[in-house]
Amino acid sequence: MPALRPILRQLEKEGAALGHFNVADLVLLKAVLGAADDISVPVFIGASEGERDFFGTHQLAAFLKDIREDSHIPVFLNADHRHSLVKAIEAAKAGFDSIGIDFSALPIEQNASRTKEAVEAIKAINPNIPAEGEIGDIGTGSEIHEIEHRDHANLTTPEEARQFVQATGIDVLAPAVGNMHGMAKSMVQGTKKKHLDVDRIAQIKKASSVFLTLHGGSGTVDGDLRDAIVAGINIIHINTELRVAWRRSLDDSLGRDPEQVVPYRILRPVVDAVKEVVSSRLRLFTAQRAGEDKVWN
Ligand code: G3H
Ligand code: ZN
Repeated sequence: MPALRPILRQLEKEGAALGHFNVADLVLLKAVLGAADDISVPVFIGASEGERDFFGTHQLAAFLKDIREDSHIPVFLNADHRHSLVKAIEAAKAGFDSIGIDFSALPIEQNASRTKEAVEAIKAINPNIPAEGEIGDIGTGSEIHEIEHRDHANLTTPEEARQFVQATGIDVLAPAVGNMHGMAKSMVQGTKKKHLDVDRIAQIKKASSVFLTLHGGSGTVDGDLRDAIVAGINIIHINTELRVAWRRSLDDSLGRDPEQVVPYRILRPVVDAVKEVVSSRLRLFTAQRAGEDKVWN
């Protein structure tokens, strides 16, 4: 299977981005893998600390290792939002393909020094693992929020991005460019959308010259995501949209037949509903390369 870096470069050349989807259980994992397999595009599976605790760090890594052996598409595993050195090291040792170091809640100087320390520790375990660092405020929680959290004062500047990359040695930068974790109620209802500062993304790309990740992608207007890819975004994280589909379809499935107790009969429609969301996002992220019948090796 190809490594993550060449795949990111190849997608970038094609004007596409790698879709990153968080999983907390087998239903979500089946949905994400099924969607990527149908469309035949590479996919990034993410597990935050909470998701990883529920699934099991080693179990998820072992699962993915096994799945990859039979897969005709490249599948990567990301340790999403690691908030401590210990958790970053644990994921690197467990065989994750990429580690997201997240000290973005700290003042930027402390964020830089803690991130640098984690990057060095990860590279000492495996120099090929891309390390991601985060700056700026993009809120917390892939959940439904009462109101939209917006912090325009804390958007990443190109100069901050340049300095942070230089100070830390990260391979991937996650900036704050109008993106936010989670969805406001109005976004779940579909009356509101997130918007991105696409010019800022282009400037950050130019100043930092590393791969860029967009966190908090759920509820973002399609056109902005398309423009963000052109401006330099390489990876797009989607989580809340999957969780909303998971919850709604589970409610529906349980409600349809209160006597049903066979798990796979209850859960199959849930896999299908989440898969539909993942498919539509993957199509958007890879629209520029649509129609290509690519053999991934
Ligand atoms: O790391 C995960 C994400 O950034 C997902 O954000 O829940 O807004 O899609 P989201
Ligand atoms: Zn995130």
